[in-house]
Amino acid sequence: MPEATPGARGGPRSAEDYPADEASDVVLRSGSTLRLRPVLPEDAAALAAFQGRLPADSVYFRFFGAGGPSPETARAATRVDYRDRFGYVGDAAGRIVAAAHYRRSPADPTLADVTFAVDEAFQSQGIGTRLLERLAEIARARGVATFEALAPGPSARLLDVFANCGFPIRRRTVAGGDRFAVSLAPTPAYEEKAADRSEKAAAASMARLFEPGSVAVVGASRERGKIGGEILHNLLAAGFHGPVYPINPSAAAIEGTRCYARLADVPGPVDLAVISVPAAAVPAALDDAIAKGVKAVVVITAGFAETGDEGRRLESRLLEKVRDAGMRMVGPNCMGLVNTNPAVRLNATFAPVYPPEGRVGLSSQSGALGLALLDYAARLNLGISTFVSVGNKADVSSNDLVQYWAEDPRTDVILLYLESFGSPGVFARIARRVARRKPIVAVKAGRSRAGARAASSHTGALAESDAVVDALFRQAGVIRTGTLEELFDVAALLAHQPVPKGRRVAIVTNAGGPGILAADACEAQGLELPALTPGTVQELRAFLPAAASVANPVDMLAAAPPDHYARTLRLVLADPNVDSVLVIFIPPIATDPDAVARAILEGSSFSGVKPVLAIFMSARGAPPVLKPIPSYAFPEPAAIALARAAEYGRWRAAPAGVVPEFADLRREEARALVDAALARGGGWLEAVEADRLLAAFGVTTAPLRPAPDPVSAAAAARAVGFPVVLKAVGPAILHKTEVGGVRVGLESADAVRAAGEEMSARIEGLTGFLVQPMVSGGVEVIVGVVRDPTFGPLVVYGSGGTLVELLADAAFRLHPLTDADAAAMLDEVRGTALLRGYRGAPKADEEALRDLLLRVSALVDACPEVREMDLNPVKVLSRGARVLDARIRVERRPPPARSRRIVY
Ligand code: COA
Repeated sequence: MPEATPGARGGPRSAEDYPADEASDVVLRSGSTLRLRPVLPEDAAALAAFQGRLPADSVYFRFFGAGGPSPETARAATRVDYRDRFGYVGDAAGRIVAAAHYRRSPADPTLADVTFAVDEAFQSQGIGTRLLERLAEIARARGVATFEALAPGPSARLLDVFANCGFPIRRRTVAGGDRFAVSLAPTPAYEEKAADRSEKAAAASMARLFEPGSVAVVGASRERGKIGGEILHNLLAAGFHGPVYPINPSAAAIEGTRCYARLADVPGPVDLAVISVPAAAVPAALDDAIAKGVKAVVVITAGFAETGDEGRRLESRLLEKVRDAGMRMVGPNCMGLVNTNPAVRLNATFAPVYPPEGRVGLSSQSGALGLALLDYAARLNLGISTFVSVGNKADVSSNDLVQYWAEDPRTDVILLYLESFGSPGVFARIARRVARRKPIVAVKAGRSRAGARAASSHTGALAESDAVVDALFRQAGVIRTGTLEELFDVAALLAHQPVPKGRRVAIVTNAGGPGILAADACEAQGLELPALTPGTVQELRAFLPAAASVANPVDMLAAAPPDHYARTLRLVLADPNVDSVLVIFIPPIATDPDAVARAILEGSSFSGVKPVLAIFMSARGAPPVLKPIPSYAFPEPAAIALARAAEYGRWRAAPAGVVPEFADLRREEARALVDAALARGGGWLEAVEADRLLAAFGVTTAPLRPAPDPVSAAAAARAVGFPVVLKAVGPAILHKTEVGGVRVGLESADAVRAAGEEMSARIEGLTGFLVQPMVSGGVEVIVGVVRDPTFGPLVVYGSGGTLVELLADAAFRLHPLTDADAAAMLDEVRGTALLRGYRGAPKADEEALRDLLLRVSALVDACPEVREMDLNPVKVLSRGARVLDARIRVERRPPPARSRRIVY
């Protein structure tokens, strides 16, 4: 990315003003990517060329007051300040193929004029939609609520593209032609369209990897045992459906397949290149692949970001090349990928196992572990649809894959082994949506957070636990398992059986002891063992021996023949009290396990909507015929798998909720406050600033009056009305209560002055006071924002005031919050009972508290520089909620971790 040149007239004032983090690579409908970035002054020539390719009567030119292309229009298009005038361009390796601009109205800062155009040769790929979508996001972050444009005529493409984005459009007739106004608030319709578009684009781009027509192996070694040799061998051995081209300058043929010295020599097209040459040769190999028109690459080679700074630089250069060429890359430092589709049969890994075909999509961040996972899946006979070892995830990450699998008809269950998140917020957003359709099961390597960060606020301290990670996975509907074994146990269940609708499980067994063990294991996992209905009990009694137990667990006794298994299962599954069944078999001498397995299959075959799990407590394991029923060697793993699935089922059945839009937010005012604080270097806002920031977002605070000394504090108190609260202020005073800097219930001016003098004498670093009216009654809670190093901003709600850290009774949610999230947070915190009329106390206004949580989330959305917020205490009254103390810290956003951020 070139640096902006300072000083261009009307352009950015300095290189720092260039909003580099607004640049992004978008995945287009075709699966290819395109660089979108803010315009630069030096783009004038490229813009002139672009404009020259547009039809002269394009409405685009009217935005600049021109009737067609001219050098002046091209220069005008680069005149930006990245606030009130913004230009955003599609950059295809130096050629501008699309441009969009907005210009804020001098009369109304929430309104901006907009225009855009796409080079004809690049139309119909969805570029216009993505460009506008991003420009709308950028404008919204700068306080623009509405775009306005001149409608050029009834068949205006411009209008189509806006409509396609999902934005609500109003049309009005004015002098000079129709204008239309586009509201930029992200409505549910917009969110839905954007998510759908991103899913389809990601799926198209992954299809380039998974379904190539031809594959080349660059660095195909003549030697088996060497990585490049193994990859070639695996590709051929799996029976890939298209041509396979070994590339190696030293061989004429390998494994009987014609070999080429360079990619350029291959006669036909190459869709996928697997690169397995030493690290120093990778950039050149990539250049060859780009020149050949290869659509996707897998870079097996190690020696990049995992080795340190130099490796990271090399890796970002690979990514630059890949993105500039609009292709996708898996790796580097990976083991490759597999597609078991019989119509494709792609094994582009050096793994010695080719997994059985099935309905599980699997991705692993660790190559070695990926190998173990494939092996384990093969041994468990758990079928895989597609497998990817993502390696360093320079480009393709689990975010792409999850979206691909969401759309892939061959995949029912998504399994992920994660070590880190590239962009956890994006992962959560994608997962939340995909998990409504297909289960996502993930092992996230846990990590100790001890000493991760010296927390400087109460909310910060609360977030330092692995339980938070758990909660966040739950919020996104992702099933988090503690171990790899559990990952497979859950996968085996979900790959073959329906998702349970609830937690009620029935146990059917031929031995009492294991039945009790299973019941204990279920209850320990939060599952319930309901009583069976009298009808079921009666029917069971009719054929089971008198000594059998027909309560839950149903103990059919050791001699239970296969037929009893089938009949019992059928009855129990039909019982309305039951959501799932655990069936246990301990082989006694007289019963044939195969016959029991067949009976279990038969007994559960009609159910279809309730899952059945088997526990075959035999050293030989379950007979193969039982395959559609997941089988476990012991009760505990079965109970754990079932509990995870049941929890997921509950999440999926609950309404998804919406991120509400507030009509009364004063975004511009909030932005200006935050910008002013950033201009002086950021940090904690003054109490009065924090108060104003909250007020701009409709959060009610107890009004504050600053006073420099005890005498003026007394005067302020008189104006406020007694009783009042007096608070000490000073840059070093973070926790006022802890230094004795808060006095409540002061009834007179004298009392205020005396308290002020006492504090001045005692508290070091005191620089003034705040006087606040006393808010009596209500329940104290804490609301805040903390930035998790992995997940980004989290909204926190916890019970009570100074007790918060002591009780650690808090709920965390990823931002942005939906109304359902806010409600669930309240339910999750034990202390919420105090709001609900605990022991005859009056009920507090829960709705006001939910509204506060949602407004805090909206504030973080509008001002992502808000890094930390501590509203403590908040008083929830019988009507309304009032923030009594607010601490807010702002900080400039760090540059994006990746040189090339991808936007779906
Ligand atoms: N184009 C085509 N072929 C090339 C080439 C090029 N630019 N450069 C080298 N080759 C050929 C070599 O001639 C050799 O073939 P040969 O054995 O028939 O002579 C083959 O490619 C491999 O090159 P070589 O120099 O022998 O490399 P290598 O096999 O020792 O190592 C890697 C290459 C990629 C395996 C190695 O660099 C590496 O990164 N290993 C770690 C991989 C890894 O762990 N990945 C993560 C897994 S989770």
